[in-house]
Amino acid sequence: MNHLDKLLKMQLESLIGSISTIDRLEEQGGTSIVHQVITKSGTYLLKSSFKEKYREWLQAEAIVLEKLVSQSIIPVPHYYGFLEEQNSSHLIMSFEQGITLTTALAQAKTDTAKLPLIKSLGQLLHKLHSTEIKEPFHHSDEWLSERLQKAEYYVRNGWTEGSNELLTLLVKNKPLKVKQTIIHGDCTTDNVLVVNGTVTKFIDVAGMTVGDPRYDEALAIRSFVHDKKLKNAFYEGYKHYKITLDEFRYFDEGLYEFF
Ligand SMILES: Nc1ncnc2c1ncn2[C@@H]1O[C@H](COP(=O)(O)OP(=O)(O)OP(=O)(O)O)[C@@H](O)[C@H]1O
Ligand SMILES: [Mg+2]
Repeated sequence: MNHLDKLLKMQLESLIGSISTIDRLEEQGGTSIVHQVITKSGTYLLKSSFKEKYREWLQAEAIVLEKLVSQSIIPVPHYYGFLEEQNSSHLIMSFEQGITLTTALAQAKTDTAKLPLIKSLGQLLHKLHSTEIKEPFHHSDEWLSERLQKAEYYVRNGWTEGSNELLTLLVKNKPLKVKQTIIHGDCTTDNVLVVNGTVTKFIDVAGMTVGDPRYDEALAIRSFVHDKKLKNAFYEGYKHYKITLDEFRYFDEGLYEFF
């Protein structure tokens, strides 16, 4: 950050040591600005948000990462700190190797090259959904109701493109309940990292909690849902559940519209 303000820099340095370089990443997300920060102690990822809605998401991500800091079952970046200034929030975490699965799939020109990547996504998600629910996560059956309430709050505040009509439909037509699991909560191919052809890590984990695994499943397959071969590859890795078309649409064309 060229204009990394002095106070922020000081606070950052108290967490990770004196900064030698700070560079904006080539690949940026939609709700934040990401920088690679190098200090004597290591290489870090600084994720900064400025709008209220996205600052809330960043704070949620910080809370998740902090809670997961001393476990190694769920592969996520290591948490170093969260800083809030008047008009911005900043999350500092370990800089992880790899490229997003979206990028890896774009680089893989043929289906043959894409299949193992997608199977690997299925395997990683299968593992997450099979993980025993224990500290810091807690059993809950309220995830979908809470998401719908949040969606309503976003509609009222004009914070979403999802419409009130769609929301009413979703509230009226909740899918039959399935067993809740630990979920990523925004499991698109943008939010997992690939190292040496294997999907190894979850990033962008603000929504990680106990919830409906069909939401992850829907978002994971959304970019290749109409491609039978690629979809089959996903289900070679993911054995947890096979979402119906109606369920897929409820989550992908429905709930996801609000977030
Ligand atoms: N810990 C990390 N190590 C290395 N690179 C990272 C890390 N976290 C994020 N990135 C890079 O930064 C990009 C944006 O990160 P992220 O997905 O967390 O933010 P975002 O997309 O702005 O959030 P959102 O999906 O909520 O819009 C990723 O695509 C990835 O390239
Ligand atoms: Mg993202």
